[in-house]
Amino acid sequence: MANIIEKKLISYIDKTDENKSSHWKKYLDKNSSFRDKASHLGFGTYTSKSYKDIFHKILQKLIFGNKVFKSEIFQKYKKIFDLQNRLIDTDTIRHILTFEKLKNKVNPKKICIIGDGKINGILGAHLTFPDAKIFSVNLSETLINDYVILKDLDIKLAESVELVDKIEFKTSNKILHIIPSHLKNFLLNRNIDLFINIASFQEMNVNEINKYFFIIKNNKSKIYCCNREYKKLFGNEEIYFNKYPWGNPKKLFWEDCPWHKKFYSLKPPFIRNYNGNCIHCLVDYK
Ligand SMILES: C[S@@+](CC[C@H](N)C(=O)[O-])C[C@H]1O[C@@H](n2cnc3c(N)ncnc32)[C@H](O)[C@@H]1O
Repeated sequence: MANIIEKKLISYIDKTDENKSSHWKKYLDKNSSFRDKASHLGFGTYTSKSYKDIFHKILQKLIFGNKVFKSEIFQKYKKIFDLQNRLIDTDTIRHILTFEKLKNKVNPKKICIIGDGKINGILGAHLTFPDAKIFSVNLSETLINDYVILKDLDIKLAESVELVDKIEFKTSNKILHIIPSHLKNFLLNRNIDLFINIASFQEMNVNEINKYFFIIKNNKSKIYCCNREYKKLFGNEEIYFNKYPWGNPKKLFWEDCPWHKKFYSLKPPFIRNYNGNCIHCLVDYK
């Protein structure tokens, strides 16, 4: 049964449709199975444990090496995923590697994830920075899918969720605020000190990217951004990482992302290259 947050988000689908690029218009709409945790709708995977786990583990070790499995953040995700019979798959490992890299470089009090999927981002943000307030802005369908996954978890974060339903919404003491993308201007002047965007700007149109950068600069925030260097969308929009409206922030790092080079599937040839280079960076607009 959909609860009040889900019902409101369903009623916002038409509004966030206006923020969709041709990519998301093709992949996501009212009729998609976005209330199903396991549905694969282009915003990440939710893999349940099965007899195939051993094959996942072998392929993950070949791609990512051994170290990540021993990391503190891996263990924290695992404790929660085990209770849900959820496997740590590639999408989660990408996030673990991200938070392992960020944890000693930033100490945010307010974090905003733009374009999360399957809660990998909000969960990692909470596990890495447990005292931080978290904002998650996304299309309504993805927010519903995240919320369905989140509310089944037996952790404080799952109980502490607020839906922003107007731009003037007053923040509460809840840990997580979820924001449908048509209300993104709620994020202006919020003293957010870290934005995170992973594999998400690469599929938005330029106008939408510009609006998010305006918000990031307005908050004088840092942003961790990890996206394809170039992607052509179905509607022929061409999205270039270097052409985002960066301005002139302080660059803390800016390099090819080492964990967005190869991915695997359980079918031959098992390990493949990503279709295009991914850059990741941490920059500061303070
Ligand atoms: C490929 S998924 C990436 C998910 C996750 N960050 C990851 O790396 O696994 C792209 C995400 O961008 C979101 N997205 C698309 N258009 C958006 C918009 N206008 N505002 C916010 N998020 C958007 C999608 O809903 C989806 O969650």
